[in-house]
Amino acid sequence: MTTCLYYNMERLDKYLAARGKGSRREVQKLIRGGAVTVNGTVCRSPEQKINPEQDAVTVSGQAVCADGHIYIMLNKPAGVVSATEDRHDRTVLDILPPELKRPGLFPAGRLDKDTEGLLIITDDGDFAHRMLSPRKHVMKQYVAKLDGEITEDMIRRFEEGVTFADGTVCQPAQLRVRSETDRTVGIVGICEGKYHQVKKMFATTGRKVVHLQRISIGNLYLDSNLPIGNAKKLTKLDIDSIFLVDMH
Ligand code: URA
Repeated sequence: MTTCLYYNMERLDKYLAARGKGSRREVQKLIRGGAVTVNGTVCRSPEQKINPEQDAVTVSGQAVCADGHIYIMLNKPAGVVSATEDRHDRTVLDILPPELKRPGLFPAGRLDKDTEGLLIITDDGDFAHRMLSPRKHVMKQYVAKLDGEITEDMIRRFEEGVTFADGTVCQPAQLRVRSETDRTVGIVGICEGKYHQVKKMFATTGRKVVHLQRISIGNLYLDSNLPIGNAKKLTKLDIDSIFLVDMH
C-alpha cells in the first residue's frame, strides 16, 4: 500500500530554486527550455504543482534530491543481481529509470538473482541497517511456489525454527498455504535475512522452491500496479509503514 494521506504540493520553480538549482528566474528559464522532467516527462510550466514526497524531478538528467534521502520501490525481475556493480550481470541499479538514479544508491538487503518482487533501493545507510536488523523484527513475506505440497508438519517446523545442515538455527517463521486449492504455494514470513534463507528452510523439509517472490517488508506491500522491472519513489509514509507494528 503506498497511499499518501496528505500532499504538500509545491510550485515546480519554487521547489527547484529552494534546492539550489538557481534563482527563481533562472529555474523558470530552465523549465521553459525543456531541461526539467517530472516523473520522466518534460515539464515546461514553472507554475506546475508537484508533490516533493512522491514526484521524481530531474534537471538536465540529474535527479533532484527532495529532502536528503531517496527511497525507491523496485519490482525486481529475475535475472538481475542485488548489487551496486557486477562484472557479468545487470544490477538492480542498472535497470532504474534515469530520473530515479543518483550517486550513493544501493539495495537495502538482497534478493537472489532468480527471486522477484519487492526491493528497496536507497542512499540511506541508517535506514537500511534498521530495516535489516533481526532485532527490529521487521517481517518480510514471500510467496514460494514449491515442487510439492505444504504439510501441517512443515508449518509446525517453521514455527519452531528450522536448523540448517551446518547447524545454523533460524528464528521461528510463519508459513501458511496461499489457498487450500493449491497447497504447493506458501506464504512465508521471516524476520531475518540469512543467505538463501527461504530456499534453505524449505530444503530442510525436502521441498524445492521453484519460484520465489517477496511481497512485503513490514507493512509496506509490493504495489500490485507496478509492473515487474519497474520502480517508483516511495513517500515518507511508505517508509514509516515498514516499521509499523501490527496491533493484533
Ligand atoms: N530467501 C531466499 O532463499 N532467497 C531470496 O532471494 C530471499 C529470501
